[in-house]
Amino acid sequence: MSDRPRLLPLLGGTRHGSRDAMTCLYRCGNACDHPVPNPTDNPYFGDVVDTEISRRGVVRAGAVGALVLGFGGAAVGALAGAAPAAAAPAAPPVPGGGEVSPAGAGRPGGGALTFKPIPPNKLDTLVVPNGYDHSVVIRWGDEVVPGAPAFDLGRQTAAAQSKQFGYNNDFVGVLPIDRRRALLVVNHEYTNEDLMFPGFTGQDALTVEQVRVAMAAHGMSVVELERVENTGQWRPVRRGRREYNRRVTALATKFELTGPAAGSAWLRTAADPKGRTVIGTLNNCAGGVTPWGTVLSGEENFNQYFVGGDGAPEEQKPRLARYGIPTDVRHPSGSRKWERADERFDLARHPNEANRFGWIVEIDPFDPQAKPRKHTALGRFKHEGANVIVARNGRVVAYMGDDERFDYLYKFVSDKKFMPGKSSVARRHNLTLLESGTLYVAKIEGDSPAAEIDGSGTLPADGGFGGRGRWIKLASGNRSYVDGMTAADVLTFTRLAGDKVGATKMDRPEDVEPSLLTGKVYVALTNNSDRGKAGKAPADEANPRNSNKHGQILELVEDRGDNTGETFTWSLPIVCGDPADASTYFAGYDKTKVSPISCPDNVAFDATGNLWISTDGNALGSNDGLFATAVEGPERGHLKQFLTVPLGAETCGPFITGDNRSVFVAVQHPGEVTGASVENPASTWPDGDFAKPGVVVTWRLDGGPVGS
Ligand code: FEO
Ligand code: CA
Ligand code: CA
Repeated sequence: MSDRPRLLPLLGGTRHGSRDAMTCLYRCGNACDHPVPNPTDNPYFGDVVDTEISRRGVVRAGAVGALVLGFGGAAVGALAGAAPAAAAPAAPPVPGGGEVSPAGAGRPGGGALTFKPIPPNKLDTLVVPNGYDHSVVIRWGDEVVPGAPAFDLGRQTAAAQSKQFGYNNDFVGVLPIDRRRALLVVNHEYTNEDLMFPGFTGQDALTVEQVRVAMAAHGMSVVELERVENTGQWRPVRRGRREYNRRVTALATKFELTGPAAGSAWLRTAADPKGRTVIGTLNNCAGGVTPWGTVLSGEENFNQYFVGGDGAPEEQKPRLARYGIPTDVRHPSGSRKWERADERFDLARHPNEANRFGWIVEIDPFDPQAKPRKHTALGRFKHEGANVIVARNGRVVAYMGDDERFDYLYKFVSDKKFMPGKSSVARRHNLTLLESGTLYVAKIEGDSPAAEIDGSGTLPADGGFGGRGRWIKLASGNRSYVDGMTAADVLTFTRLAGDKVGATKMDRPEDVEPSLLTGKVYVALTNNSDRGKAGKAPADEANPRNSNKHGQILELVEDRGDNTGETFTWSLPIVCGDPADASTYFAGYDKTKVSPISCPDNVAFDATGNLWISTDGNALGSNDGLFATAVEGPERGHLKQFLTVPLGAETCGPFITGDNRSVFVAVQHPGEVTGASVENPASTWPDGDFAKPGVVVTWRLDGGPVGS
């Protein structure tokens, strides 16, 4: 076995929280080493909450009338001839097909999760329950654009990588073409040069061409898939035109800026004096599939790509600092040195370039010629992702999280209404929905006395963490609601707008996703090592544990079931951790029967409304995984572990197809363990040589619905 690389022994390693130090370095540019970028002393209790928010006993949302379209988490009305208020289909056609049903007409919680949970483990393989199988759909270096060169580890080029599947897949969306074909759309969040280039010794030692390879390995991929026989397995189409197959990169893809801040002074640079066209997208984390058949993608930790903050104009420094860009050093810890390949990443020379990242990106995978867009109306922050629901009044609502300790939860409500149907008129109209609307930030208040929230996770006397909340308007078109800020200011420096209006500091809001069956919204709050530390916000009812290691899930129910409204109730159905730990909570379910879970990151729904949760940085000693629970009925809180990913990896992008026959996950950063390298890998997944990120599909051997 001399040709097999030696497996790196597991290192205890220096870890920031539960993540490996190597993940901290590459994924977020050592964010934990830098001060928390939110220095405000926003009230952490409801002292600016108006009387409306303080009301008790308002009608809770029941059967919501929001329009839903059935392709699992996806909602592909434009492909389906969607018509609002159609009768609920008995079952969506394979694979989903985008049938329309009114929200609440499905059977939330009706698909009992009967699979036998898998145990926590540290195996270097993907583990699924008995009765299931899985396969790797596509991995780093595989062909995306027809004719891409075969992957050659020792001779990587930016030109080849620009046609091959990128690195560190995160968001996964699967959009149907017909019953047997679909488009896989994937984000490539970041690169890990230690694990990509043989002989790697440091960023400075990379050739400029290798830097360009890394830039090309960022971005997105669109890949045509075909169903394998009549199973839940899918694989890339390997012959024919594959007209939709496409790579979007940080290196070369042009994006159009839309919305009120497009063209503003903040977005103009020497290379783009009009402030309307940006090259590339950075650190694309999670995302969502829209009801009109496009994909949204969140630009997250973009700060780590920029150097020279110390040389930026003085008046810009506070804004850079609020986005986590140090302004006292040229090269912050963890910086990627991309300025070696492209000077626009040097803020001393191009101080506005950073303002052109941190947006929600929309890509139309069915129009390979269309320029992807960055929508300024949805604000600029470290966007985890965005998930859209069509509200009862026809407007579309995008829910979004800003993934940083003590940052905020947001939503966007469109001005225009969704137009059902697959006509070209409807499609053109719906493509403009995210260009104009109103941006809100969340103010969240508990309904228990402050003294009952002691930071330990002990439930208050009323038996659960919960309360009321309010969406605070930030900007609407060219109108700002924030003192001293124009609409362009609010949209470009949205964190500062949230600070000014006293938004609630949350424990790293990641994926925020509405259930299309109930209209209720679920927020993954991953963790917050600094909660309750000296000078930092202490525990509050929505973030009830100090030094929060394991995170929590927040359920948000808009008043009157109106996703466009300004008030809501909320609760924490799951407070994560080891169920044997008294600080955990699983909606009151018998804790001896639930799986341990830590650091929830992405959420998704299956066709019957069960909530699926993937984890990032499990602090309980197991590999990361995917879990599922009902959110309605007696099984609410009965959380079960469905799979684990290989050693060192994170589970990303869970996506369950609308026919409930396939679960897709992205295996991100396998083998990312301090000290690992190409020659000395900590993981040999998936091919037995060196670690490669890849997308996996899981299906039930008997062809039945997954989970049940
Ligand atoms: Fe890229 Fe918030 O995880
Ligand atoms: Ca994430
Ligand atoms: Ca999601």
